[in-house]
Amino acid sequence: MSTTHEAGWAHASGALRGPAWLQPPRDPNALVPHLWSQTAHKRDGELHVGGLSVAELVADVNTPAYVLDEEDFRARAGAFRDAFAAYDVFYAGKAFLCTTVARWVAEEGLSLDVCSDGELTVALRAGFDPARIGYHGNNKTMVELRRAVAEGVGRIVVDSFDEIRRLETITAESGLGARVMVRVTAGVEAHTHEYIATAHEDQKFGFSITSGDAMEAVRRVLAAPGVELLGLHSHIGSQIFDSSGFEVAARRVLALQARISDELGVTLPEMDLGGGFGIAYTTQDDPADPAQLATEMTKIVEHECRALGIPEPRLSIEPGRAIVGPAVCTVYTVGTVKAVELDGGAVRTYLSVDGGMSDNIRTALYDADYSCTLASRSSEAPPVLSRVVGKHCEAGDVVVKDEFLPGDIAPGDLLAVPGTGAYCRSMASNYNHALRPPVVAVRDGVARVVVRRETVDDLLATDMGDQ
Ligand code: LLP
Repeated sequence: MSTTHEAGWAHASGALRGPAWLQPPRDPNALVPHLWSQTAHKRDGELHVGGLSVAELVADVNTPAYVLDEEDFRARAGAFRDAFAAYDVFYAGKAFLCTTVARWVAEEGLSLDVCSDGELTVALRAGFDPARIGYHGNNKTMVELRRAVAEGVGRIVVDSFDEIRRLETITAESGLGARVMVRVTAGVEAHTHEYIATAHEDQKFGFSITSGDAMEAVRRVLAAPGVELLGLHSHIGSQIFDSSGFEVAARRVLALQARISDELGVTLPEMDLGGGFGIAYTTQDDPADPAQLATEMTKIVEHECRALGIPEPRLSIEPGRAIVGPAVCTVYTVGTVKAVELDGGAVRTYLSVDGGMSDNIRTALYDADYSCTLASRSSEAPPVLSRVVGKHCEAGDVVVKDEFLPGDIAPGDLLAVPGTGAYCRSMASNYNHALRPPVVAVRDGVARVVVRRETVDDLLATDMGDQ
């Protein structure tokens, strides 16, 4: 029987054993350790993170809630810092940013990548040193660029000829300098979901190396008074597991670096290889650790520079997901349980929780896989293939497509979904006027709300009919 359906995974496929990679667990109460933050463990069936019972925690803050394991975040940030000691490591704030996290990033000795005025505002509010901030974006306005230059942002990653002209105007009018990198597209399509692969040619980011635009951008930046060119920047995509994409990209970007040196007589001192390092959302994912990545990437760059006869630039990277992704789990309360009979008589268990696509859009948007555990008790009930869905008015409002969960899950039980630190709170919405959940940092038995839950007053604050 075919296991695919033309309407996609949201429609029953008949094969109720779930996707091939998903094995029924020997013990459905046990955590799969590498999917969870480092302090997460079960005690008598109850999930504990940061020395706290998640059930007790949400008795205070309610559900849904993002639980952020501070020790885990700092350990991952530190692992990148140490493994890439010869590099500058920029934490990509788009994955998740708030002032507390910006301070942790600074304390762990990392730099910070922002991509909007809002993210810059949060970073500056946290007291982050502007000289250690990189500023991204394919459509930065005059207002945004003026602010970035005036604040002394360490590097602006330019992405269009319009932006280069804007920066020329700004440096001329202000008398201030701007330090920039030129974002290039290396023509590499990373093996990832197509929405998040960014270095192939037919997309909005960067200057193409093959078309000659990248070289032209370099010429124009070099000719712009007050604008200092630090180097080239390449980001090939996200949730990437093997270094081959980085290898091809690095080879092409370094070849351009060599041409710039030959034709323009300029040695660019720096190069940024972007972010995109994958994490384990489910047992099918097997990410490399930072030390392994560092070894491979450094080897590639050393080898290419030697072959091209150019000096090695100072390298930087921009991991977001790999630092914050595994540090967070989302805790939900089950509200309804529905056994849905499928074609052929099989039954799928739908567990509806009190959040959904408003706090995690990734399943609906990228067809992402997640896992999940019963967080408030242990159960002896045999596992059944379950689907965790949200409470939004949309059939695609799915959080976890497939997971084996105890067959006795009932309203009031807590479910926890690991790996939700990156691109969940940061992409959360108020769809159906949902209130975006809080982020609660936990460490050594102490909980601290670092982003509070939204309130109805927050929702109505922008509704001018209510003023
Ligand atoms: N640097 C640049 C220039 C980027 O565009 C990104 C991500 C990063 C670094 C960080 O990538 P990371 O290490 O976090 O993968 N919303 C999508 C991911 C979009 C990524 C956008 N750019 C998702 O949820 O998978």
